[in-house]
Amino acid sequence: MKGTMMNPRPMLSPDVLEDIDLNDRQLHADYDLSEVWRYLRAERPFYYQTARGSQPGFWVVTRHADCTAVYKDKTNFTAERGNVLPTLLAGGDSASRTMLALTDGDRHTQVRNLLMKAFSPKMLSNIGQSLRTTVDGLLRDAIEKGECDFARDVSGKVPLVAICDLLAVPQEDREYLLSLTAHALSADEADATAEDNWTAKNEILLYFADLAESRRSSGHNDVVSLLATSSIEGEPLSDGELMANCYGLMIGGDETGRHAITGGLRALIHHPDQWRMLRNGEADLQTATEEVLRWTVPSLHGARTATADVVVNGKQQIRAGEIVSVWFASANRDEEVFRDADRFDLNRTPNKHLTFAFGSHFCLGHYLARMEVEAILDGLRRMVDDIQQTGPEKLIYSSILQGISSFPALLKPDRRVPPQT
Ligand code: HEM
Repeated sequence: MKGTMMNPRPMLSPDVLEDIDLNDRQLHADYDLSEVWRYLRAERPFYYQTARGSQPGFWVVTRHADCTAVYKDKTNFTAERGNVLPTLLAGGDSASRTMLALTDGDRHTQVRNLLMKAFSPKMLSNIGQSLRTTVDGLLRDAIEKGECDFARDVSGKVPLVAICDLLAVPQEDREYLLSLTAHALSADEADATAEDNWTAKNEILLYFADLAESRRSSGHNDVVSLLATSSIEGEPLSDGELMANCYGLMIGGDETGRHAITGGLRALIHHPDQWRMLRNGEADLQTATEEVLRWTVPSLHGARTATADVVVNGKQQIRAGEIVSVWFASANRDEEVFRDADRFDLNRTPNKHLTFAFGSHFCLGHYLARMEVEAILDGLRRMVDDIQQTGPEKLIYSSILQGISSFPALLKPDRRVPPQT
């Protein structure tokens, strides 16, 4: 494994904390915030970032125990006004009470129970087979190509195939949807605007409105049909709920998964001892998958609004109406919870990472995401002898997600594997 840190981000000093804006997407692309998180966990576990210009202030929660306390408190916190800083600070999310992630209370339980059917082991086992075939094919193509852009050629395709299988999206529409999802939450380019995000999001919503309409009476056996033909308390889901939930699955499942996969490859390159262990069969695949997810933590943060005055974990008073951001990226490195937290250790157990959040909104697609990462690790282990990074990586611009949009790499074949005919 060669091609170590091609372009490491400079470490940001906690001294500048009062001058930076943690909601600034450029900040996360340009700097490594590990020292800032470490300082906040140790000294100011409930830090209040004051208003920056017209942008309101918000709480920044960085310890694992405090993050889980906020996320499990359904009485005093709501996700209905938004569940990430950019929308909350801009005044709220238009998908409130239509998208599952932005719905609380009984309605959340009812819709979640409905969607859970689509994530049943039976539904997913069909997808699992197609996923493994896809992953092996993509890795084989990447190996044959010589040099590839792993982020685009491999990671960029795996989650989309899985989620499109789940939603039964027609083959001919898949490329188009991929290009839209890449722009709806983050931006591969620094100069992409909020309008670009907004336009992409609306196009996805419209696409699913049409698809759902065509599935209302189609007799298909997929998630879109399930949503389009189900009722709750005798009432069908509204068009808004249909669109927003298809969008939620697409967006929740695509970009996050891609970043876990590319980040996993990058971590293996940077930790050759762990790659050797994986290749030699000295790492359990499921355990290794959990560590890749802890390490890459594609969702940097989540957020809630307090609905009442509350004292979190007996430590910090939060007032009704205040916005609280919860930093999974920091919680996953909390030295109180993870022994040797800054070590990438494929055999780490226990591994109570918060990559999929916690509580009632715990990621619905966690099992599918795990299957994707595991399929990649398994494919690399079986088919690849050596991996090199051959050019600088490009990071995405986002305060919601962290990940890599371009990762030039060379995958050398494992000669022990007979070529596929
Ligand atoms: C919720 C992360 C993959 C669908 C969440 C949340 C996080 C998360 C942090 C909680 C958000 C909050 O409440 O603030 C991730 C990561 C993934 C991943 C890191 C990949 C590595 C997927 C996949 C799907 C999916 C593959 C579906 C195909 C959802 C849905 C919710 C959710 C529907 C909302 C659940 C609810 O509100 O009850 N995810 N996710 N996610 N995720 Fe994922």
